[in-house]
Amino acid sequence: MSKPAITGTGVFTPSQSITNDELVLAFNAYVENFNTRHADAIAAGEVEAKAPSSSEFIVNASGIEQRYVMNKSGVLNPDVMHPHLPERSDDDPGIMAEMAQEACTLALAQAGRDASEIDLIICAASNHERPYPAIAIEIQQLLGAQGFAFDMNVACSSATFGIQAAADMVRAGSAKRALVVSPEICSGHLEWRDRDCHFIFGDVCTAVVIEPADEAKGAHFLINSTRCATQFSNNIRNNNGFLRRTRTGGMDDRRDMLFMQEGRKVFKEVLPLVSAHITDHMADEGVEASDLKRLWLHQANKSMNDFIGRKVMGRTPAPEEQPNILQDYANTSSAGSIIAFSKYSDDLQPGDTGLICSFGAGYSVGSVLVERA
Ligand code: COA
Repeated sequence: MSKPAITGTGVFTPSQSITNDELVLAFNAYVENFNTRHADAIAAGEVEAKAPSSSEFIVNASGIEQRYVMNKSGVLNPDVMHPHLPERSDDDPGIMAEMAQEACTLALAQAGRDASEIDLIICAASNHERPYPAIAIEIQQLLGAQGFAFDMNVACSSATFGIQAAADMVRAGSAKRALVVSPEICSGHLEWRDRDCHFIFGDVCTAVVIEPADEAKGAHFLINSTRCATQFSNNIRNNNGFLRRTRTGGMDDRRDMLFMQEGRKVFKEVLPLVSAHITDHMADEGVEASDLKRLWLHQANKSMNDFIGRKVMGRTPAPEEQPNILQDYANTSSAGSIIAFSKYSDDLQPGDTGLICSFGAGYSVGSVLVERA
């Protein structure tokens, strides 16, 4: 059995970004238009007036300062409030495959591998732009990879569940060399008109190369252990799907066809779940808190990460021990912990242990214990 290792990572960051101030300006213009349009109904008590948002609230509640998006003009148009992502011809690469191509190319370059040496691609993401053919197969074709490819979705935990699946296959020999790629176009499933969540998400794509450690060409991280867990909850939910019939895409479409959450409940329920998951995983692998050099956590909320970091380390981690990227990227679903890993792992020394953990809808939690080789 081969010991799997992460030998390369890549991050595709969209060229357009939106600051909190820009976002709030657009949101508040939408609110003002809505309240003016419905002034009579609001006065009659038939419609509830919408309240404005504020940059201070967003930073205090989440730690988010800006987000990258695939289309800024649509999101910031108070009469539109969603990204303009025009449909493409079936003969053109889809938008997810296009994002994936850049992230995969960067990851392959770091691993010193050509795409033709890859024989497994898992496209692990929260939303897939179509049910089939799998986005992963389109990525396989664009890159010129071999073998087989498939899509999987475990919401915010997709990347770590994908890493477990790929690592297991490399270990067992059913795949020789894998790419786990997470194109997350969260702007497309966010309700930008909802004050409680309009600031939460951003777009990005990450990719990770996984291959046998003894074939690694450069610096790499051994995958010492992975653990996945799920527990059903409706507190983060999106009812959109192939059975939908009524969504028009207009301003009056069904709210449940986009991201919905009970943010406070998520906070209360997910924090103990994730903290216990990580501490149990570490204990079962004989990893002490003092052994842990770095925690690359899911990037949804700064207070959440601060809490988990304290629980796992048994003290307040130094910022470099638990790096956050959510101030720049916002919540990028499954890609968040991988962005943190990709940007903040180079300085670890051989023998240093770290843990990647993502968590979210499902509920789902995935953790990966890695060691710098
Ligand atoms: N601007 C100003 N005020 C706002 C606001 C906004 N954009 N949105 C909400 N508020 C107000 C609310 O009206 C509420 O006021 P009230 O107490 O007078 O009723 C107050 O702020 C608190 O709202 P709440 O939703 O409880 O805020 P919060 O501190 O819980 O932060 C989240 C909201 C969403 C950032 C936070 O709950 C969270 O991150 N939850 C978990 C997210 C998560 O991991 N999700 C997984 C997604 S994959």
